Amino acid sequence: GDVAVLVPAAGAGVRLGPGRPKALRLLAGEPLLVHAVRRLAAAPSVHSIVVAAPIAEVAGVRALLAPIAPVTVVPGGAERQASVAAALAAVPAGPEIVLVHDAARALTPPALVESVAAAVRAGHEAVIPVLPVVDTIKEVDTDEMVRGTVDRGALRAVQTPQGFRRAVLTAAHAAAVDALTDDAGLVEKQGVPVHCVPGSEHALKITRPFDLALAEHLLATAP
Ligand code: CTP
Ligand code: MG
Repeated sequence: GDVAVLVPAAGAGVRLGPGRPKALRLLAGEPLLVHAVRRLAAAPSVHSIVVAAPIAEVAGVRALLAPIAPVTVVPGGAERQASVAAALAAVPAGPEIVLVHDAARALTPPALVESVAAAVRAGHEAVIPVLPVVDTIKEVDTDEMVRGTVDRGALRAVQTPQGFRRAVLTAAHAAAVDALTDDAGLVEKQGVPVHCVPGSEHALKITRPFDLALAEHLLATAP
C-alpha cells in the first residue's frame, strides 16, 4: 500500500444525543471506530492508519484497535480540522497519498477507499467522493422566508474518504485560517483543483439517531 489514512474520531457526537464520544458508540455491539478501521484496513492500498481520538480516550482507543489493525493513535483537537492536523503530523515517512476519513462513516466500503486512492494515483491532486443531491434546496432568510431555489443539478453532497497528494494536504493545513468541515475546502482555498468520483450510500455519516438505526439495519441485512 502507498496510502496513509487519517481518521478524525475525536468528536463528541452531540447530535447523536447523550452518551460516549461518537466514535465509541456501539453499532451492532462494536464501536463505530472499530467498524471504520476494519474496513480501511481491508483496502489493499492502505499502508498506515492514524486515528485522532478524544484526549481522555487515547489509551483506550489504542487497546481497542490493536487487535483490528496496526494503528497510530494521537489525541485529537477541539475542532475536526485540529484533529486532522494532529493525525497528519503523525504520518510516517513513505506514503505520498493521504486520505482523510471520518470515523462516523463507519460502513464505508473498502472499494470506495480504493477508488479515491486510485484517482489520486492517476494524477488528481485532490479527490472527493460525492452523491447527487436528492432534495430540492432553498436558500432562506433569517426569518425562514424563501429567498430562492438553488439549481440542484449543479450541487453534490460530499463524503469521505477525501484523498490528496501528501504535500497538497500538508500545505493546505499549514495555511488554514478558519476551521472548515472538510479538508477539500482547505485545498480549494489554495487554488488546487478538486476532482469528484462517485460516492456510496453506504458511506453515510452517522450523525443523528436515525442514521444509527439505518446503519444497524444495513449491517443486519448485508454485513
Ligand atoms: N471530529 C474530530 N474532532 C473534533 C470534531 C469532530 O475528530 N473535534 C471527527 C468526528 O469524530 C467524526 C468526524 O470528525 O468522525 C465528523 O464529525 P461529526 O460527524 O460532526 O462528529 P461529531 O463532531 O462527533 O458530532 P457532533 O457535531 O454531532 O457533535
Ligand atoms: Mg461535529
